[in-house]
Amino acid sequence: MIQNRIEILNGDITALGVDAIVNAANNSLLGGGGVDGAIHRAAGSELLEECKTIGGCPTGEARITRSYNLPAQWVVHTVGPIWYDGTQNEEEMLAACYRNSLALAKEHGIQTIAFPAISTGVYRFPMERATNIAIRETVQFLQKNNQIAKVILVCYGDRAFKIYREALKNILSEIL
Ligand code: APR
Repeated sequence: MIQNRIEILNGDITALGVDAIVNAANNSLLGGGGVDGAIHRAAGSELLEECKTIGGCPTGEARITRSYNLPAQWVVHTVGPIWYDGTQNEEEMLAACYRNSLALAKEHGIQTIAFPAISTGVYRFPMERATNIAIRETVQFLQKNNQIAKVILVCYGDRAFKIYREALKNILSEIL
């Protein structure tokens, strides 16, 4: 049942003991602010050392590393699009972040994975649009792939949490 395999959580993604957490990184993969900063702080400096060996990541793609001091086993780094005005293929790039992160997780036998709201912070992607993309891509992936048992969409604050829950309710009522 799809609705049992998607969960909306309000809190700090670095605290989750899931198989993998997703990092909203930048193209260099060398750390930053926001959730990227929180993940690197919690994982410790070895995460940055491993990221340095990867040599960056194009927008829309995903790379995987160990998680070091984090409770999760893996970190999937993906680079979301910076929002300009919606005419620069931003929506497709954000959808690709979710698709590629989930595909990479499946390749590594990951069963539980948590995403932050990619691109909705520093990259200024409108939260409502980003939420619909996140949920639609997750639902479509889960409908085709049973290997992933649960996807957790982590919001960081009540506003995001409300938007995510509303969007999930609407999308699930459309497909069920
Ligand atoms: N846990 C879960 N979500 C978080 C956390 C956290 N600890 N910290 C921040 N967030 C949320 C933000 O509230 C936002 O909704 O993650 C979402 C993504 O925001 P950013 O972290 O700013 O990421 P993004 O908008 O994708 O911008 C990426 O910011 O930190 C830099 O290096 C990063 O250059 C890259 C850019």
